[in-house]
Amino acid sequence: MTTIQAVSYPIHFENKAYEELALLLDQKQYSSIFILVDDNTMRCCYPRFMQLLQTTLPMEVLQIDAGEVHKNIDTCIGLWNAMTELGADRKSVLITLGGGVITDLGGFVASTFKRGIDFINIPTTLLSMVDASVGGKTGIDLGVLKNQIGVFANPELIVIDPEFLHTLDPREIRSGSAEIIKYGMTHDQQLFQEITANPEVNIIDLIHRSISIKNEVVLEDPKERGLRKVLNWGHTIGHGVESYFLESPAKENLTHGEAIAIGMICETYLSAKLLEFPTDMVSVVKERLIAIFGKASIEEADLPAIYELMKHDKKNVGGTINFVLLNDIETFKIDCNVPEELILESIRYYAS
Ligand code: GLY
Repeated sequence: MTTIQAVSYPIHFENKAYEELALLLDQKQYSSIFILVDDNTMRCCYPRFMQLLQTTLPMEVLQIDAGEVHKNIDTCIGLWNAMTELGADRKSVLITLGGGVITDLGGFVASTFKRGIDFINIPTTLLSMVDASVGGKTGIDLGVLKNQIGVFANPELIVIDPEFLHTLDPREIRSGSAEIIKYGMTHDQQLFQEITANPEVNIIDLIHRSISIKNEVVLEDPKERGLRKVLNWGHTIGHGVESYFLESPAKENLTHGEAIAIGMICETYLSAKLLEFPTDMVSVVKERLIAIFGKASIEEADLPAIYELMKHDKKNVGGTINFVLLNDIETFKIDCNVPEELILESIRYYAS
């Protein structure tokens, strides 16, 4: 797989990535390495990573509990304290080894520690490979509100090692495939067909194509002034649903991908209502996504709270909920305003 060059850092694939990582660690003359893991990646990924990591630098492991509920400021304070006690300095480098929580939170911890130290992302989930680890967004949640606190900061290098995917359960792989479906719907019809037909086939190729799409968008609009908002397609309603399920004890847990799949179904419905998206494709998208992700139970009584949570979406300006909608697959329009009643109608369409 060819290397993808992002604005200031390379994204390397498979074995070559470890060679490049060793070269970088050598060239940058770091004083020490801190490796951030959670309890899952400590058990499932760290042993492989240590076998492949070539360095003589002093090393410390920082381990946190796994899960989105730990993506908060308390975890950051714990890590900043641990790094201070363990003697991290401005020439230390933080390697994040994990899924989206680890790469988002680790990037934030590194880029704020002593006004910023280098970090390197080693995403171990499909979701973090194709989305979270790429593009320079770092951050944490504020209560149930996702990614409300954070900074744009780029890693020095990203290692994509598809072997880590074997450590994931199928639900986790499906969660990541939602982001690939998103890239397919917004940029590449063929990718949409392939990922919804059989996500297991040639996954490394699908990952490479997804990262390439994201990288092209980010190169053009790194700070999400306009174009980059397209990467949030499906996420406006999806994040509302995800936050709602997270804070409702009576609801089952949804993965990020499951919530985004709901968002993509609703936002396809809105695209047909408000733009030119072909009406007959709306039910096709719904059927394919429900076949992959299953159907969550959303009742009429849930809608007001989901709508309230959507008001915190970072794309919103001046109290207006801003959507990305599609004229067709591969043709999108950003900053679309949608009336509240239609938003609720789209969620009812999903639930029907
Ligand atoms: N996950 C959306 C973005 O990186 O912009």
